[in-house]
Amino acid sequence: MPVKISPSLLSADFGRLAEEIRAVEAAGADTLHVDVMDGRFVPNITIGPLVVKAIRAATKLPLGVHLMIVEPEKYVQQFAEAGADTLYVHVEACQHLHRNLQQIRALKKRVGVALNPHTPIESLRWILSEVDSVLVMTVNPGFGGQAFIDLTLPKIEDLRAEIELQGLNVEIAVDGGIDAKTAPKVVQAGGRHLIAGSAVFDGGDYARAISALKAATAQVA
Ligand code: DX5
Ligand code: ZN
Repeated sequence: MPVKISPSLLSADFGRLAEEIRAVEAAGADTLHVDVMDGRFVPNITIGPLVVKAIRAATKLPLGVHLMIVEPEKYVQQFAEAGADTLYVHVEACQHLHRNLQQIRALKKRVGVALNPHTPIESLRWILSEVDSVLVMTVNPGFGGQAFIDLTLPKIEDLRAEIELQGLNVEIAVDGGIDAKTAPKVVQAGGRHLIAGSAVFDGGDYARAISALKAATAQVA
């Protein structure tokens, strides 16, 4: 199965967002990743449904919306209506994760769950069958451009084993510190959908950056 690459728009130039989106789309992005932060769950504030709506209008690519917010149940509908295709809620932000996931399913969106680096995959064991994609955070959420945390690699392996054990078709997405050096390790461990912000946007040549990530993982996948 080929590895999917999703640029994280957090590292894009927000003054030229539509242009940036068209550029990564032309450069070979498979989907786009949108980071929503509330200044409470994470120590940073980014964007809301209005901007997601603007992103939706600029592209046909699927949008993964990563909700780094407390009480996500209050906002999932707005983000769904704004044009999200996959909605990720953080397990650490949900008192009633099962209910939150049912809410996303009822909105007819792909159901995503995100895990902070320290959160064990056991927290998902009894709910994995309700999930389409697990987003394993390989940095502490809140900022782009942070260093990859190697301690998360065995966790990705455990998650893959649990998915296989349960005979499920759940995607493993990985977010944070992904570049041409860390990407093969992540894919080796079982990741199949890589989110990359600074590695795509910082160098300026988006096609080259996305091809480098695809080439770095082609042998491993
Ligand atoms: C971090 C975000 C990530 C971030 C990744 O809180 O969830 O999506 O944009 O950026 P890089 O690839 O630079 O670590
Ligand atoms: Zn993210």
